[in-house]
Amino acid sequence: MSIENAADITGLLKIGRIVGLTIAAMRDALEPGITTAELDAIGERFLLQNGARSAPQLAYKFPGATCISVNDEVAHGIPGSRVIQAGDVVNIDVSAELGGYYADSGMTVAVPPVSAETQRLLDCGRRALNAGIEAARAGNRINAIGRAVQTEAEKGGYNIIRDLAGHGVGRKIHEKPSVPNYFTQRAKDKLTEGLVVTLEPFLTTGSGHIYTAADGWTLKTVDKKPFAQFEHTIIITKNKPILVTAV
Ligand code: CO
Ligand code: CO
Repeated sequence: MSIENAADITGLLKIGRIVGLTIAAMRDALEPGITTAELDAIGERFLLQNGARSAPQLAYKFPGATCISVNDEVAHGIPGSRVIQAGDVVNIDVSAELGGYYADSGMTVAVPPVSAETQRLLDCGRRALNAGIEAARAGNRINAIGRAVQTEAEKGGYNIIRDLAGHGVGRKIHEKPSVPNYFTQRAKDKLTEGLVVTLEPFLTTGSGHIYTAADGWTLKTVDKKPFAQFEHTIIITKNKPILVTAV
């Protein structure tokens, strides 16, 4: 969507804050011994208490309120009986709706003990998202974001998972345009003031190829290599974008 009035901004910021706080609550509860279903229940409860509804449930009948992907699971991991272990790398992705507005955010968290390689990957993932945010200005082409993200990832020696991209958001969970995390001539449209998109680079130490697991939902890296994803919903302006899901 594109912001048309003050109510749009208020509505988006409201659900954005709820999404951000939901992820924070889940991150704080993440520790060895907790199951991904228990973690999901914490997220679901927080969403409900705030009047919000899980977007993946609403839009896709996803079997969970949130997506929790562990280690070589890249995205859309189904919460269940899996028990979190020390040293796991966990991606928490939350998207939700309130009052007709949608926001989407994600982060990758390592459960101690954290290896130096994992920490380096996570740090670079955050930097890649920030580089994308810096490039996300009205008047720039969409591919300026991918160029900035890719440059930052490659500086760290990482590959981009190219099958996954940022996207428009706001009135639905997935809208146009697609926001690739690498430079491509295809993404040549210009960013316009008020446009609402997610940026969500996925960096990996592996080839970046993924497949859908037998459950029909979970995406995994083909080479079982770890990855990092950080995602924010943002509103494009002439200057720095408004971070909708930062808390
Ligand atoms: Co997203
Ligand atoms: Co997401």
